[in-house]
Amino acid sequence: MITNTELEYKGNLYPNKIVDFLQDADKLFFTTANGVILQITILRDSVLRFRYATENVFEPDFSYAINDDAGIGYNHLNVVKTETEYIVETSKIRVLVDIDTLRVQISDLDGNIINEDELGFHWEENYEYGGNVVKMSKITQGAESFYGMGDKATHSNLKGKRVDNWAMDQYAFGKDQEPLYKAIPFYIGLHNNISYGLFFDNTFRSYFDFAHERRNVTSFWADGGEMNYYFFYGPKMPDVVKSYTDLTGTPELPPLWVLGFHQSKWSYYPEKRVKEVAKKFRDLKIPCDAIYLDIDYMEGFRCFTWNNNYFPDPKKMVQELSDDGFKTVAIIDPGIKVDKDYWVYQQAKDNDFFCKRGDGPYMRGKVWPGECNFPDFTNPDVREWWATLYKELIGDIGVKAVWNDMNEPAVMEVPTKTFPLDVRHDYDGHPCSHRKAHNIYGTQMARATYEGVKKYVYPKRPFVITRSAYSGAQRFTSTWTGDNVATWEHLWIANVQVQRMCMSGFSFVGSDIGGFAEQPNGELFARWIQLGVFHPFCRVHSSGDHGDQEPWSFGSEVTNIVRKFIELRYQLLPYLYTMFWNYIQDGTPMLQPLVHYDQEDTQTHFRTDEFIFGKQILVCPVQEPNAKGRRMYVPRGKWYNYWTEETIVGGKERWVIADIDKIPLFIKEGAIIPKYPVQQYVGEIEITELVLDVYFKIGAESSTVYEDGQDGFDYKKGRYSLRKFRLRGKENELIIQQFKDGSFITPYKNFTFKFHGLPFKIANVEVDNEKVALKDLKLNGNNTIEISKDFTELHITGN
Ligand code: GLC
Repeated sequence: MITNTELEYKGNLYPNKIVDFLQDADKLFFTTANGVILQITILRDSVLRFRYATENVFEPDFSYAINDDAGIGYNHLNVVKTETEYIVETSKIRVLVDIDTLRVQISDLDGNIINEDELGFHWEENYEYGGNVVKMSKITQGAESFYGMGDKATHSNLKGKRVDNWAMDQYAFGKDQEPLYKAIPFYIGLHNNISYGLFFDNTFRSYFDFAHERRNVTSFWADGGEMNYYFFYGPKMPDVVKSYTDLTGTPELPPLWVLGFHQSKWSYYPEKRVKEVAKKFRDLKIPCDAIYLDIDYMEGFRCFTWNNNYFPDPKKMVQELSDDGFKTVAIIDPGIKVDKDYWVYQQAKDNDFFCKRGDGPYMRGKVWPGECNFPDFTNPDVREWWATLYKELIGDIGVKAVWNDMNEPAVMEVPTKTFPLDVRHDYDGHPCSHRKAHNIYGTQMARATYEGVKKYVYPKRPFVITRSAYSGAQRFTSTWTGDNVATWEHLWIANVQVQRMCMSGFSFVGSDIGGFAEQPNGELFARWIQLGVFHPFCRVHSSGDHGDQEPWSFGSEVTNIVRKFIELRYQLLPYLYTMFWNYIQDGTPMLQPLVHYDQEDTQTHFRTDEFIFGKQILVCPVQEPNAKGRRMYVPRGKWYNYWTEETIVGGKERWVIADIDKIPLFIKEGAIIPKYPVQQYVGEIEITELVLDVYFKIGAESSTVYEDGQDGFDYKKGRYSLRKFRLRGKENELIIQQFKDGSFITPYKNFTFKFHGLPFKIANVEVDNEKVALKDLKLNGNNTIEISKDFTELHITGN
């Protein structure tokens, strides 16, 4: 046993004996003789916050990550002191705080240890910065696995890895490269079938070591600020992810078109080229909802300006694109060109809105426009001003959404790729240096953009994309995984990153389909599309310094495959929209890695490739050239192969056929999957039928379909349609009950039920206890019937 005093020589300082305890409603304060205070706040029975002060002082309590509406309130709290420890108990967990060392041990009420301090909280006085490096070390439990942490491009199970949270522009990053664009200091631990989560809410550069340096120790530390973490008890992983997502928030619903297909490139210009690309989509009948303008639309890369040579009449162009069903999305970067004749620069200068160096002058750095100054988005006045800048772009010209890039913030031609650390920030009235504000800068930019876009697209819904993000950014913006490469390895990386982001509370995410740097061949592009249509954000983007990367750029075979998969995405729009609804309502990640789906099955703990799209569709991308299929793990339960309708029982690895025109795809038995007809863009046609694909099961299963006006805010006033279907199948019988909520009237009158795997021939159909003649059901063979959308109970029997 190492004692605290023995460790001090290593330069670390440790709390010693607790000499004082105080309870103030939901807050408990434990003070040690050497001036450390541990504050435990009980947010919920399963969510606790741990904060540590040294020298008896806490910093002002402020966080950009925490959602104001996060649920709080607990049922039970009891504190008991024994000779050696304090015992804190809620209705879900028990926390022991050791009196001699301040170390903490958390267990469930059956006494199973969930998480325990090794050395616990300790710190190092750092005289380079004149502050503390705050540290925490925990004992790694037997067979413990680790997940989450945002966009890390490494194996989904982080055991044995060390990661670094420092937002960074990483052009053409590699597998395992650190750090990347985002800083999401949240992980999920799993051992003994118990999941818990830990969110270290500290925006300084932070590190997590998952049993990498020492096999039995998991530790995390930051270059400043407070040791301030939230603990979430599962015991199931979805409970953990939901609690973290509730604490840091979810977005509003995007307009439905945002879930369509998007085409981007650096850059489409001039206007003629933009229109050519748009037209080609319509000519080839490849659905597409959005086209992107990268930096070349601007005049000398000045944000909020237009290059009039390339785009003589942007408003007209945007309108014409819109008439053809395309939304225009434009990029906006944080660097404002130093140019006294440029209005944005002038306004910022006049109002003193730019970031300043520690010794006074404006922070200057080179980005696309050359020398730039950078707004301090951590200042609420700057955010308010920034929002007003969108008036012309969105309000007058009609651009529908904004893509924020380079907001780590990225600076060119300097080895650190970002601001010097002495740069000052307002941090919403808690002035600090860039060391503290760096990781949050991109989020605050996206937040300001969101406010602006929201204001000027009103009464429509806003849509924002960001490259950099900290925990909580998901409340304002979607994101993509940055400058990847057109390689097979990057297809693997994209799959892992998107799943990992979903586990980290941030579901609205996608990759540059096909790869940003370098040129994919047709096969890689097709395989990437097959994965990309199952990502919440689905956009092709490329650097454009090589060949074309449109769906038709790789010959007709690939074009046909790409069309088929984009069409599938459009058919699945109601399913995707429902996934989004579930995400914002209760924090359910839109994609579930298998371990999230079934943690009890230890086979899932080290899987990376397979994931559940929503709740009922299993997807596994093909990530190798020349493949005719692949081996994959099918999770427990019974599944229908989407392509062959053959059923298989999961719980083992198997070979699945998937030639170049297929991706392994399985539907959970009992699922009811809603589908729209294919449209070339959202809103092209009025939806006159909803297809419900029913995958027969002996037993019960529930499915949900959420719909609304597809844009606008009426859904917040109850104008939505939420249908819950309960399916019960027996050998010779199928019952589907419908429970409906919300006042939105869907435009279609009927459901077209398509039955898959029905083990009997339909003989009798009763709708709400009344027999319906088979001829009235538009019966199509043995598997399709059409009935009114208002039914409550559908009862089918065979002979
Ligand atoms: C950055 C972005 C990329 C964009 C380019 C030009 O590299 O990550 O998506 O195309 O800048 O704006």
